[in-house]
Amino acid sequence: MLGCDQHTAVLDHDAIVGLLTTVPAGDLYRRADGVRHDSVGDAVHLRGLIEFSNYCRNDCMYCGIRRSNAHVKRYRMTREELVETARRAVDIGFQTIVLQSGEDMHFDQAGMCRIIEAIKRMDVALTLSIGERDYADYKAFREAGADRYLLRIETTDTDLYHRLNPGMSWQRRHECLLMIKELGYELGSGIMVGQPGQTIDSIADDLLYFRGIGIDMAGIGPFIPHPDTPLAGEASGTLELALRVMAAMRLLMPDINIPATTAMETLHPQGRIMALQAGANVVMPNVTEGEYRRLYELYPGKICVNDTPVHCRSCIGLKIKSIGRTIGQGWGGHVTHRNY
Ligand code: 5AD
Ligand code: FES
Repeated sequence: MLGCDQHTAVLDHDAIVGLLTTVPAGDLYRRADGVRHDSVGDAVHLRGLIEFSNYCRNDCMYCGIRRSNAHVKRYRMTREELVETARRAVDIGFQTIVLQSGEDMHFDQAGMCRIIEAIKRMDVALTLSIGERDYADYKAFREAGADRYLLRIETTDTDLYHRLNPGMSWQRRHECLLMIKELGYELGSGIMVGQPGQTIDSIADDLLYFRGIGIDMAGIGPFIPHPDTPLAGEASGTLELALRVMAAMRLLMPDINIPATTAMETLHPQGRIMALQAGANVVMPNVTEGEYRRLYELYPGKICVNDTPVHCRSCIGLKIKSIGRTIGQGWGGHVTHRNY
């Protein structure tokens, strides 16, 4: 809306690099906060995140639940547990449920569809974040009622991608994003900032890639080394760069949904609030229950592992109100103006 064109018209690759490096961070955050205010308003939409299985067929070098990490105690919720967890999240006010897992093919097409149908009967928006599947699966999940899909591209540097995601194909992942979009899902993607070997230039390319394919949501979080992975000894990403990337994303695509990510808060106790004041308009509190919360350890130091869904819901609600923002009502989907 107002101001968007003026803020985004000049954002080519070099301008984005400037935002990520030389522009004073405070100025960038304020600008992104202004664009966020003008284009999506002051409401912060909450999504209840259920981490329902930590089995994964992949072996990403950075990920704590990678297949070859033998230290992980694996779990998989039953359908009943999962639907009950969703029910409780809906009862405490969540109007979007996000189902996330490793790439666990135990949940086959028919099994996922039953779960999707059960949750959609609760009259909420449903987001899937279960990785790469084939077209028939994506289509069936969509027809069963899934509204949105999250699949981070992680990086558009294909060499880096292939180094850090052995056995996977960047092209294949890109095609998954296109299929998801074509099927009419709201498409969420994103990157991990500070991956070993990632360059600022490649991050600028990532942001332009997202604008090119027309994502509806961008999840951007810092890389945090996990001790049981091959990247254990690498440096962590920084909160500042993650916030800069997120803020630049807001300038580039003013009306999309952008979460203040959990990994940001792992690096700083106010990380999510800082993000909400630098372009973010979504928070995805964990509504997984009991022991599962700590077993879904993609990276160490994950916040809230000893808390309950009710506690997290009220904690984040208070934080949001303390910075003068409101809790979003309704499903909070992407309402696009697409003037970029
Ligand atoms: N540090 C930060 N984020 C991570 N993810 C996976 N492993 C890590 C890590 N070590 C992110 C990936 C993935 C999302 C679900 O979690 O970007 O897409
Ligand atoms: Fe599971 Fe990477 S190890 S998606």
